[in-house]
Order: sequence, then structure tokens, then C-alpha cells
Amino acid sequence: MTALVVAMDGPSGSGKSSASRGVARAMGLRYLDTGAMYRAITWWMLQRGVDLTDPAAIAAQVDEPSLVSGTDPDDPTVHVDGVDVAGPIRSQEVTGAVSLVAAVPEVRARLVAMQREIIGKGDIVVEGRDIGTVVAPDATLKVYLTASAEARALRRTAELNVEAGGPGGTTVEAQQAAMARRDTLDSTRKTDPLSMADGAVEVDTTALNLEEVIAEVLRLIGERSSQE
Ligand code: DC
Repeated sequence: MTALVVAMDGPSGSGKSSASRGVARAMGLRYLDTGAMYRAITWWMLQRGVDLTDPAAIAAQVDEPSLVSGTDPDDPTVHVDGVDVAGPIRSQEVTGAVSLVAAVPEVRARLVAMQREIIGKGDIVVEGRDIGTVVAPDATLKVYLTASAEARALRRTAELNVEAGGPGGTTVEAQQAAMARRDTLDSTRKTDPLSMADGAVEVDTTALNLEEVIAEVLRLIGERSSQE
């Protein structure tokens, strides 16, 4: 059997991260969060005061920071210039700015090359927006996770409330609007927009809990592996 590569794409709030990590754990595979790489570059650019409305300014700086991504599903680290930024890359500031950085072709070129190198010999679950279409089009299994806009906003609001240590910081309506803005930017950008890959299997997670999503992806992997 050839090395296993599982591509997990879909919009924010579709449940990609939890499902991808769960699948990697269940099968003893590595795990790569490509969104964290776009967030880490964005964090560094914000620290540097780069004008994120200027794609040329972003492109001019993109090779400056060193970036190291871990692949342990139990501890998905990301280091920029030796600093662990796993926490700061989840800030509202980074979340609000990352689509601008991810739209710049030079950023994507650097990160896609790094991602392909990490994927290397396989045995990995990779989550993102362009894994099945661009980064690993020959993946063993390509999954496209979706969920209704309301379900996605509800999940994101619950996550943010846990991070904030209690409810009140945001509302489902505010999150739905913010996600809609980000999804529009991510799916209408010129370079590698979010879209469903040829041969991808769509899994609608609106009415599924995490265990059910993981079970479905494991079932699909089993199906693919027996076809090889
Ligand atoms: O999955 P996430 O929310 O951590 O992703 C952060 C941003 O990075 C999101 O706005 C889309 C972008 N992204 C991308 O363009 N390509 C990827 N492979 C992964 C994420």
C-alpha cells in the first residue's frame, strides 16, 4: 500500500481541525495544520508593522521569518523565528487579518512548497483550504467538510467563549458575519481559492457530532485503502 495522505479542506467552522486531529490520532498518523502557517506569517507581519493592505509589502517580507511546523496531533506547535506562537496566532487580530496575507501569491508559493516537503513520504492528515486542489492533488483521500453557516457560527462562538473563560465576548450573529466576510475573501481570491477538489468527498457536518465525523472519515479511508 502506498503512503497515506488525507486532505481535509473546507471553510472555517466546518470542524476540520478537531476532525483532522482525531483521525490522525486514531490511525497514528502525523497532522499538519496549514492554516496555522498562514496565521504564523500574519502574526509576524503584524509584529513588524507591515502594511497588510499592500500585497507588494507582504511579498517583499515573506521570506524573512523562519517557520517550523510540528506534526504531532496532540501538540501541533508552530514556531516563528524560534518563538512558539501557537497561542497568539488564534487572536482576533490575526484572525481578522489572515485572509489578506493568504491571498498574496508569494506567501502561498513559500508555504505550499514547505507543506509539500512536510507531507513528503505521507502518513499524514493535512487540513486547509487548497490541500486537495493544489498542495496534494494525489492524496489518497480528499474530504471537503461543510456545515450550515449557522452551525459554523455557533461552533466558533462556543470556541471563543471557552477561550475567553465565559460567554459574552461575542455573539453568534457577529461571528456569522465575520465568517461570511472571511469565506468570501478565501473563496474569491485569485490564487488557489477555497473550492472542492476533483474526486473529493463532501461530508456535511451540520447534524453530526465530532465522533461521527471522525468515524465517517475513517470509514472513507478504509474504503479507499481497500481499493488500492
Ligand atoms: O483554518 P484557519 O482558520 O486557521 O485558516 C486561517 C486562514 O488561512 C484562512 O483565512 C484561510 C487561510 N488558509 C489558506 O488560504 N490556505 C490554507 N491551506 C489554509 C488556510
